[in-house]
Amino acid sequence: MGACSVSLGACALDNTQVDYGPLDGPGLRETPPRSGLLYGAAVEASQLGEDAALAGAVARECAILVPEGALKWRALRPASDRFDFRGGDAIVRFASLHGQRVRGHTLVRHQALPDWFAASAGSGNASSLLAAHIETVCGHYAGQLQAWDVVNEVVDPRAAHGLRETPWWRLLGAGYIGTAFRTARAADPAAVLFLNDYGLEADGHAADAKRGLVLTLLRRLLDAGVPVQGLGLQSHLVVGDRFDSLIGFLEQVRGLGLRVAVTELDVSDVPVPGQPVSARDAAVATTYATFLQKVLAVPGLVREVLTWGLTDATTWLRSYRPRPDGLPTRPLPLDEALARKPAWAAIRTSLARADARYMIPSPRKQA
Ligand code: XIL
Repeated sequence: MGACSVSLGACALDNTQVDYGPLDGPGLRETPPRSGLLYGAAVEASQLGEDAALAGAVARECAILVPEGALKWRALRPASDRFDFRGGDAIVRFASLHGQRVRGHTLVRHQALPDWFAASAGSGNASSLLAAHIETVCGHYAGQLQAWDVVNEVVDPRAAHGLRETPWWRLLGAGYIGTAFRTARAADPAAVLFLNDYGLEADGHAADAKRGLVLTLLRRLLDAGVPVQGLGLQSHLVVGDRFDSLIGFLEQVRGLGLRVAVTELDVSDVPVPGQPVSARDAAVATTYATFLQKVLAVPGLVREVLTWGLTDATTWLRSYRPRPDGLPTRPLPLDEALARKPAWAAIRTSLARADARYMIPSPRKQA
């Protein structure tokens, strides 16, 4: 077999000829013009303010943004009685200037809690603390965000009951998840409300277990009338991952009446030898194409695909999951100089194909 081209078939990891099409032309925000499928990325307000070239690339490539850190408790809550909306507001302003939508990330999580939290939160005040946070933050952005990751990373296959034993779980019990959704719904009636989690995409026993727990939790929430509307797949992938189990899972999520978003996509190149860089980029691109082909296979189910950052220069993986050989990892569609990589072309090709698929009316609709 020659170059993988646009066949989206499996490529050997060392295939340096992978070619998903040219790297010129309009940005990824222009690619799926008909179906409303959106590409976007996570950004930090400081990056947009301080780096004009990056801001230009974000404006060109993204139809939707998500604040990478600005809406987490640690950034929003410098003190128990104060909110700091400056980072989030800057991103919302940038998006409005450039005709982009914004997702909110995230109202409830076990990490990124401010230092004052442990000393100040107890079983007596946790419920009002959580409600006040969600009411204030959702209320502040009501009408401006298209979606909220209401709860993030709440299932845990290691726990006998399947839920992560977060500070919120310890203080409030499992009911905090439903409360969070209900409070968000009341404070912002328009945003689409998501449960967001990782480790749900690739084949394997660990992901099977997590997929099972997520489906059980979603069913339980829906049965109790909790206003959860979507499942966010973080999609932190690794070169070599396979996704043959994914479509069956997506069909089950669709069967619950929920939508799905790809919320934090990136592809770690850690399993690929460091040199040449072109081989790493080809392997990363192939994993993007393989994943997107599967996750976008159910027409209309996924309407947003966001990468966790736009350029390799700002990826969280460089500090959180570094390569053992010390070389900088290259998991995103643009390189440090903002040049488009094979991963960019793989995303464009995959979105264009999904766009065409999404536009074909199903036989049921035609009847
Ligand atoms: C990460 C950010 O990218 C880092 O900059 C930060 O310091 C730690 O968190 N899953 C999530 C995101 O839901 O919020 C995480 O973001 C990445 C993993």
